[in-house]
This record gives sequence, structure tokens and C-alpha cells, in this order.
Amino acid sequence: MPEIWLAPLHGLTHYHFRNCLFRHYSGFNAAISPFVPVQETAKLNVRKWKDLAPENNTSVELIPQLMGIIPAHFGDTMNALHQEFGYTRFNWNLGCPMAPIVRKRRGCGLMPFPDEVEAVVAAACRQPYRFSVKMRLGMHSPEEGLEIARRLNQYPLEFVVIHPRLGEQQYAGVPDWNALEELLSVLQHPVIYSGDVFQLADYEILSTRFPQIKTWLLGRGVLRNPRLAEEIQSFASEKDGVSGFNNFCDDKEVLRVGNGEIVRFNEFYEDLKQTLEAYRGANGSLSVLKELWHYFAHFFHFTDEQLHSLLVIPTPDAFDAAAKKLLSSETGKL
Ligand SMILES: Cc1cc2nc3c(=O)[nH]c(=O)nc-3n(C[C@H](O)[C@H](O)[C@H](O)COP(=O)(O)O)c2cc1C
Repeated sequence: MPEIWLAPLHGLTHYHFRNCLFRHYSGFNAAISPFVPVQETAKLNVRKWKDLAPENNTSVELIPQLMGIIPAHFGDTMNALHQEFGYTRFNWNLGCPMAPIVRKRRGCGLMPFPDEVEAVVAAACRQPYRFSVKMRLGMHSPEEGLEIARRLNQYPLEFVVIHPRLGEQQYAGVPDWNALEELLSVLQHPVIYSGDVFQLADYEILSTRFPQIKTWLLGRGVLRNPRLAEEIQSFASEKDGVSGFNNFCDDKEVLRVGNGEIVRFNEFYEDLKQTLEAYRGANGSLSVLKELWHYFAHFFHFTDEQLHSLLVIPTPDAFDAAAKKLLSSETGKL
């Protein structure tokens, strides 16, 4: 059976979202948190990182993700997270492609500098924790990723997550699976795959092409269809002849209506909305809900026009009423 992990999506998959998702949908074995910055001991107060607090992460194991480039700060931050919260596994973000991050040589911006990458990994691996890296193919060229893979092979990493795009692509275009194949032939660590698994068919194709990959990190696909992990687990258990995971249903109409999936989505959504509002207030949660609706719209096969008519609504009450109307109607326009 594959392992399915929830991907870090900064601004979206924080603990409120994760907990609602895990209350209503199953199939997840672990999650990686959206990144937090590493810091030196004097500046650290990890108690303020509520997203990582154990009391906010009781259902599925969370691996904190760290962002930074100064080797000594990794030991300080991991020690603090271990002492305060008990964490023993840490992931390093070497893949974020956003311009303000890249400009500071953080995230994917460090990939063209293998010596600096190696300095961080060497320092982190001297600590008594399991350390892993999440990277892309490279910032500007897959050669960068190959060189980093050769460096990473010299250290006892727990795993490497690969999103097979270049940093300069951000999320545009398609992943380069030929380049991934080459990277896999060099990298000697267990690999976790991340990228563009939006439906069961994507998993089927990729798991056939890359049988050595056993763990799948799902991000935007879960936001588009929160039951995607269940579908993959059911498919895999049927294929392996394992009973006990029987959520798979490949008939779209049955899936959408007869199988109670709309009802379940509505319950999940209501829970999420109330949870966000309790934490951020109605106005504060509106922007997060709107961001999420870019993805949820796929679940309902909304047209661009339907999504647009929802996103332009300025007030929480009117937005909520419109979302409810859309949810209760297969084709209705606002
Ligand atoms: C809005 C957004 C925020 C993201 N935040 C993070 C992050 O904090 N850390 C990280 O390693 N990757 C981050 N990613 C990348 C995802 O974890 C994932 O690797 C990428 O979206 C490809 O996988 P997917 O197609 O399953 O979403 C983010 C992606 C998006 C779209």
C-alpha cells in the first residue's frame, strides 16, 4: 500500500485546515507543515508557532518544515522544537520558488549553490534527528538538481521529496518526468513524489512509471478533491487484494450525488468555515476561503463564470449565502 502524505501549502494547509480535512476524510499517513523560518536560539520562541503545537496536531503525524540557509540556525531550531514539542523529524524547504524567497537565496533560490546546500545538510545531520529535504529539479536547470543529489547522497537523510519542476517555472507548464527519472537514477535516498496528482488516473500513471516511489505527497489535488487520498488507497488496496479500504468509486455521477459525497463535502466545508471564523473572524477568513474556492471549484466542476461570480463578493455573509446556493445547485448561476 502507498503512503499518502498531505503537502505543505503555505497559507492553506495550516492546522485548522488539516484538522478539518482529517475529521472528514481518511487516507493520510502523515503531513508536512508549511514552512517556518529557522532562527538562532536567542530569537526563538517556538510556542508562538501554533501550527506545530502538539495539541493542534493530534490525528496525523506532522513533520515540521524549516526554511533558512544559515547552518547553525538549523540545530538551534530543531533543538527548540524537540524540547518544546517533542519533534524528532524535520524537513528542509529547498523548493519554494516565490520571488521574495528566491531573492534571499532561500527555498529553490539556494539550489544553484551546492556548497551552501551541503553546509546546511552537514550541520543538520550532526543533530540527533531524522532530517529530510524537499527540492525541485533545480532553479534554472536540472543539472543543479543532479549536483545536489550527488551531495545529498553523502549524508544520512531520511528521504528527499521531489517536485519535478524547475524553480523558474513556479507552477506553470508540466512537470518534467524524464528529468525526474534521471534524478532518481542518481539519488540514493528514498524519494517522496510531489506534483500534479490531481486525480486517481494521475496516480495510476505515475506509480506505474515510478514503482520505486512508495510515498506520495498530495497538495492541490486534495484541495480540488478532498477524498483523493481515499480513492488512491482504495485503488491500491484493490490492486493488492487487500480488503478494508473500500471508498473508491469511479462513476462520477454516483460519486457526486448518490454516494453522499456532496453532503460530506458540505459538512467538511461548514466545519472548515466555522473553524476559520472562530480563529480569524468572518472578515479575516474570507480571503482564505476565497483562495480555497479556486481549488474547491474543481470538485463541483464550476465554470470560470461561476467561480468568478463567487470570488467578487466582498462581504462574508453574502459570500456564504452565494457559496451555499452554488453548493446546493448543480448548474445554478448566482
Ligand atoms: C499556495 C502554495 C503554497 C505552498 N507552500 C509550500 C510550503 O510551505 N512548503 C513547501 O515545501 N512547498 C510548498 N508548496 C509546494 C507544494 O508542497 C507542492 O510541492 C506543489 O504544490 C506540487 O504538488 P501538488 O501538485 O500536489 O500541489 C506550495 C504550493 C502552493 C501552490
